[in-house]
Amino acid sequence: MPALDGLPGQSRTDRTIYIETYGCQMNVADSELIAGVLARGGYASVANPEHADIILLNTCAIRENAEQRVAQRVRHFISARENNSRVRIGLAGCMAQHHRDRLLNAIPGLDFVVGPDGYRRLAQLLDAEEPGTDVRLDRSETYQDIAPVRASGVRAWLTIMRGCNRFCTFCVVPYVRGRERSLPADVLIKEAHSIAAHGFREIVLLGQTVNAYNDGTTDFGALLRMMSDIDGIDRVRFTSPHPADMADSAIEAMRDCGKVSPYLHLPLQSGSDRILAAMDRGHTIDEYMRLVERLRIEIPDIALSTDIIVGYPGETEADFAATADLMDEVGYDHAFMFKYSRREGTRAEKVKETVSEQDKNARLQRLIAEQLTRATAINQKRIGHATEVLAEFPARKQKGWLSGKDPQFKTVVFEPKSTDVGRLVTVMIESAGPQTLLGREV
Ligand code: SAH
Ligand code: SF4
Ligand code: F3S
Repeated sequence: MPALDGLPGQSRTDRTIYIETYGCQMNVADSELIAGVLARGGYASVANPEHADIILLNTCAIRENAEQRVAQRVRHFISARENNSRVRIGLAGCMAQHHRDRLLNAIPGLDFVVGPDGYRRLAQLLDAEEPGTDVRLDRSETYQDIAPVRASGVRAWLTIMRGCNRFCTFCVVPYVRGRERSLPADVLIKEAHSIAAHGFREIVLLGQTVNAYNDGTTDFGALLRMMSDIDGIDRVRFTSPHPADMADSAIEAMRDCGKVSPYLHLPLQSGSDRILAAMDRGHTIDEYMRLVERLRIEIPDIALSTDIIVGYPGETEADFAATADLMDEVGYDHAFMFKYSRREGTRAEKVKETVSEQDKNARLQRLIAEQLTRATAINQKRIGHATEVLAEFPARKQKGWLSGKDPQFKTVVFEPKSTDVGRLVTVMIESAGPQTLLGREV
């Protein structure tokens, strides 16, 4: 066996890694994967950066401010390291892939840069004498043989597909995550059984266009049915679906399978056909609204959330008003709203920006305020109704209370009959705000 090639006087098995995660759920799952890859190499994960030999920030590139935050944070770790050169600091994930080896020059003291398809080779990068970069994208990498090291809790993340083929004009994801690839359904079912055996009660299927899942024989709807057949799992959810990939088989599986949450995140981006076309989203407003209508017929209690971008180049006041109107018409339970951020390498990078920062801010603030009112009104309709909650953890503010999610994925804070978590309990809703329902176990 080759030497346990750590640092002098230290075996690899003594080495520890601290991982900090930014961005979407896919990155959360990838951090668990990184921990899994490194566990194989003898590294143990630690929760405190001060106890770590390796500090790794798993980064996001979706908007400029996401990158700025990480750049600041990594500089902080580098300066805090001072003369403790034993500690190695690096960046993983989408921002690493986006800027590649330029990062080593831009951030002096950085030791390694690894993209989303390079995690299998991370130990080599850590063992190298010199700072290094591994940003090779690999059309076939799915990490299907790597067991992630999952955080404990009631909910487990399961990546079912990686990458994206859609190339929406504003988005870096296809460039930093590569082409779409699905994991084989049999591998995923086996993993789901293991998730259940480890005591998790909810599985969240992940992918950037998760409902485009297809391993050649199993489509997304079929996979949802297989997942909901797994004993021990009470709930199945998924994120992030694309409206244009929402096939009948998936809608029918949501309708038929009691364990599949009646909750759908359906990114709209804009309520204007002109802007949707400019973004190359692959559907019209009419098609989107027909989908919403169909979902509401098949799954009457469905909750909907969305993503909105304001200030895309060319967005007029009229386009923006159409977005605000459509949000009202759909009546979203929740919305993630963003100012357009121009990203290097995307198709929209070359399109001249037309909306000032001031107007972007004003548009964003208006949508946020309207969504707050809308969500409050929707949630208050739940007062006096009972709902089933998967108890997750002690509430932060109310002593002795618990917090969990209901089937529509709303946060419910409630007075329990027992403080055990991981239980499915019936809660009578007594009050509601924009983000949270409050009640007591009955
Ligand atoms: N795959 C998902 C979205 C993933 S990115 C989908 O297509 O539905 C999450 C959200 O970030 C997007 O839906 C979009 O609203 C926002 N986003 C992506 N790129 C952005 C950019 N350049 N500027 C602002 N917001 C952006
Ligand atoms: Fe980005 Fe569009 Fe792919 Fe979503 S579908 S990840 S917005 S390119
Ligand atoms: Fe960000 Fe990468 Fe997710 S860019 S949103 S972490 S796929």
